[in-house]
Amino acid sequence: MKRTFNASLKHLNSFAIEARAGQLLELETEHDLQVFATDFQFDPAHDLILGGGSNVLFVRDIEGTVVLNRIPGKKIITDSKDGVLVEACGGENWHQLVLWSLDQGLSGIENLSLIPGLAGAAPMQNIGAYGVELADLLDSVQVLDLENGGLHEFVHSDCQFAYRDSRFKSTDAGKYLITRIRLRLQREFKANLGYAGLTEELQVMGVDIPTAKQVSQAVIRIRRRKLPDPHIIGNAGSFFKNPVITQSTADMLKMEFHGLPLYRVAEDELKLSAAWLIEQCGWKGRSMGGAAVSDQHALVLVNKSNATGSEILALADAIGESVQDRFDIKLQPEPRIVRS
Ligand code: FAD
Ligand code: EPU
Repeated sequence: MKRTFNASLKHLNSFAIEARAGQLLELETEHDLQVFATDFQFDPAHDLILGGGSNVLFVRDIEGTVVLNRIPGKKIITDSKDGVLVEACGGENWHQLVLWSLDQGLSGIENLSLIPGLAGAAPMQNIGAYGVELADLLDSVQVLDLENGGLHEFVHSDCQFAYRDSRFKSTDAGKYLITRIRLRLQREFKANLGYAGLTEELQVMGVDIPTAKQVSQAVIRIRRRKLPDPHIIGNAGSFFKNPVITQSTADMLKMEFHGLPLYRVAEDELKLSAAWLIEQCGWKGRSMGGAAVSDQHALVLVNKSNATGSEILALADAIGESVQDRFDIKLQPEPRIVRS
């Protein structure tokens, strides 16, 4: 187990915010996990579990310990007509897991290509993109209970998955370290091309009847074009969730705001585009201190010039107020905000 005292977290969060941890513990093997489970008293008020740091905003230092789960491993558990059960340890890179699965001839996961971060964080907010969510594939999640050091398994129905949410992010936040996930993938490929732009991208690629790998490539091409690369400019992807509203609210808004993009998610529920709301308020490309709204995508806040976490948060708050004033809609942040 690697241990560093008074460690910088700047290279460990995709916003590239300077923050410090009293101690950094890096779990690299199953043995490290056992030692951690028996010897370490985790206190969610002072300590933090960190994956790839691509969905976290540090507004303060971590006075206690930051625990990095870097335990690798992925394998096929069972392979049958009903599906293929794949297991990934929490320290596996998510996108590499997607590519490996496709190389095994498996599908169902291709629309989730190029999402940054580690497999252990994927259930936290039920990662989703291009019409697919982790919940569509997930079989079970194994966790380490940080209170008593015991291992526990949650099956899909226990996880309380919702849009960018799960029990691990809400009711049980800070209670578990996710050690591994199991996904049910398919040998028979059925393309999911419902999300706007996917079919068009495949056409540009000259593909009529795509393979799973070609869908993955199309998703990668769109994402590279639409989203700023955190290696070039710090960001955490979408900073806000897309608001979910009722039909009656949607009807009222539509009368006042023409061109309002709405996507049906249930009989009486529609999703609004937070990017559109933010762009309409004139924020796209605007800066506040070292923080800015990406000129590529209005939902992405960026670390333009050595921003502090407080500067990013101040910009987010100002955007939230504008959207509230103009549309009477409350935006909810998506990343974990580590604040006092
Ligand atoms: P971190 O940022 O390290 O952690 C996020 C949260 O999970 C924290 O609360 C942390 O404490 C907790 N956590 C992490 N690992 C564990 C663990 N093993 N056990 C318990 N708790 C843990 N998300 C999407 O859903 N869809 C997208 O399309 C998408 N696109 C993105 C694009 C960009 C450019 C960026 C920067 C981010 C994007 N994200 C997207 C957000 C992010 O990539 C995902 O939320 C990802 O799952 C975060 O993984 P991570 O390992 O970096 O988690
Ligand atoms: N739009 C604007 N201005 C912009 C960008 C987009 O008005 O600057 C509008 C357009 O109407 C566009 C619509 O927003 O058609 C949707 O844009 P996009 O396809 O980029 O999707 P999104 O709703 O902004 C969501 C997720 C992304 C995910 C994509 C693809 C949330 C909060 N975000 O973004 O996830 O990759 O769909 O499925 O649900 C993330 O969670 O970090 C993330 C990047």
